[in-house]
Amino acid sequence: MPILPSLYHSSDVIDLCAGSAFKYGPTSPPSIADFSSSSLTIVMVHWTDNVHRIWWKEASIYHIYPASFKDSNGDGIGDIPGIVSKLDYIKSLGVDLVWICPCYKSPKVDMGYDVSDYRAIDEQYGTMKDVEHLLEGLHSRGMKLVMDMVANHTSDQHEWFKSALASRDSPYRDYYIWKKPKVGENGEKLPPNNWLSLFSGSVWKYDEKSDEFYFHLFATEQPDLNWENPKVRQEIYDIMRFWITKGVDGFRMDAINFISKDPAFPDAPITVPSSKYQHAAMFYSMGPRLHDYVAEIGKILKEYNAFSVGEMAYLYDPTEIIKIVSFDRNELNMVFQFELIDIDRGPFHKYSPKKWTPREFKDIANKWQVFMQENDGWNALFLENHDWGRSVSRFLSDTHELRKIGAKMLATFIGLQSGTLFLYQGQELGLANMPKSWSIEKYKDLETINYYKQLLHDKVSQETLNTAMGEIQKKARDHARLPFQWDSSDFAGFSSIQPWMDINEDYKEWNAAVQVDDPSSVFSYWRSIFDLRRTYKDVLVYGKFELVDPTNEKICAYRRVFGCEAALVVTSFSDSVVTWTLPQELLRPGKIVLSNYGDVKGLQTEMVVRPYEAFLYILSS
Ligand code: GLC
Ligand code: CA
Repeated sequence: MPILPSLYHSSDVIDLCAGSAFKYGPTSPPSIADFSSSSLTIVMVHWTDNVHRIWWKEASIYHIYPASFKDSNGDGIGDIPGIVSKLDYIKSLGVDLVWICPCYKSPKVDMGYDVSDYRAIDEQYGTMKDVEHLLEGLHSRGMKLVMDMVANHTSDQHEWFKSALASRDSPYRDYYIWKKPKVGENGEKLPPNNWLSLFSGSVWKYDEKSDEFYFHLFATEQPDLNWENPKVRQEIYDIMRFWITKGVDGFRMDAINFISKDPAFPDAPITVPSSKYQHAAMFYSMGPRLHDYVAEIGKILKEYNAFSVGEMAYLYDPTEIIKIVSFDRNELNMVFQFELIDIDRGPFHKYSPKKWTPREFKDIANKWQVFMQENDGWNALFLENHDWGRSVSRFLSDTHELRKIGAKMLATFIGLQSGTLFLYQGQELGLANMPKSWSIEKYKDLETINYYKQLLHDKVSQETLNTAMGEIQKKARDHARLPFQWDSSDFAGFSSIQPWMDINEDYKEWNAAVQVDDPSSVFSYWRSIFDLRRTYKDVLVYGKFELVDPTNEKICAYRRVFGCEAALVVTSFSDSVVTWTLPQELLRPGKIVLSNYGDVKGLQTEMVVRPYEAFLYILSS
């Protein structure tokens, strides 16, 4: 069989499981007879040989936004006792860890991401005792608690900043980043550079008293910490130890790739000539000392075997991220990279529009899946969090009769990939964005409001304003922060009074009470996904990922393989029927174990794939 040596390379994975020869690749496999009659020596390389097993790879995480989860004391704002009262609900999904967004003492300019005391709980959310109850409640149910660690910046109401602002001689002055003004042509004091803040405007705020500017990537009330200062780093490490000693099991490290900035603070290239300030992530998303700092953080985490996930926005280069998450370095267990979530972000700003295709969607997923498995790294899998619109509304359509089918399809797409799976509160119910009929006044988040105000201030055309509103309706952080829909009673069972944000209009139909015991609900579907990840742990957690029919524009199908076990995941991103010719090598015996239409019998050469259809097929070994 002279064809074999050219078809196969020593690095190929050749699986002789189930009695048939099978090459994991786009080419058609020869039959077993071809092998037996050839003089080739087949070295079986099994994926099983490559994996590092560890608990946090097998774990799944439920993500809570405390202000919007459950209000226990009737003030219209979610709180920690509210979370404690819902632990059985969370446990019933089958997750292992719970991550809560910040509930430290804070003036809440940015909903708690502006911390004024890292060792105290904000009274709006409860007390330290309540956190202890939460820890007990989680631990006694076999779950763990992950806290949000906001290390890039503090609130301007933090004692460190108050002292720093009060005097240039304060021992805390150097905890923050200060620079002399640039002097304009007419002697006016200008910001030291042209960087655009993530919450609009300049990243610099002038302090008249000291005639210096301080640096803030986010709101003016969120001054960035100066990580060059070893005392600052020590403070953050002490805070981490404080919470670990309290019993917390790990951290989500907020905005962690922003802690090292280009020390020269050069002007950013002009990408939007009409704007005074320019997008400058290239100078702060991967600064020169990032890896030194993250290595220090990693040392502490390792000491306690603590869980960690780092938020790393604007960083799409896996060769940088692998330095942090490769198994041998393992500075952080995993990071959130946002390439998939940013798929509809235009070149300039979160709200600049961009069209995308299902093909791009799966190509991005494929890029990270393949890269991490080839480089011994690990992915964090997510489609939602508190900073984005709901996935069913953004990537599909929430007004569609197929919203439920679509929500389950997205769950299949993300939930069966390789990585640690994150579920954001309400995603398990297929919750949607605010209705499009709601005006801008319903939006409360400073990112949205600042952006909109800036447009009004710039007197942009009505057309530009409409486009912006269209993007806000898809991507604003407000959507994910609407109160959780527990049941069909007043205020959706979230609170006994009108909550801090309006309840979505669809709550009577879309809520936890109607879904929990309904086997056909989105909730039950997510529960099955967590369950299947446990039942088929080898293949679904540790299995190799490989796209099937990678150039298909509508179907996103992938295979997971572990030794002799294999699984096929099929998802359609089309809202109409697609006829799909299955690659021959997939037609192997097996069984459907998950299906969003609920009635798929098996595989056929020509499959009629229905709108947003999804299923998981486990191949017999
Ligand atoms: C992260 C958080 C976001 C917050 C920002 C500033 O991106 O997820 O909610 O506003 O950091 O802390
Ligand atoms: Ca409350």
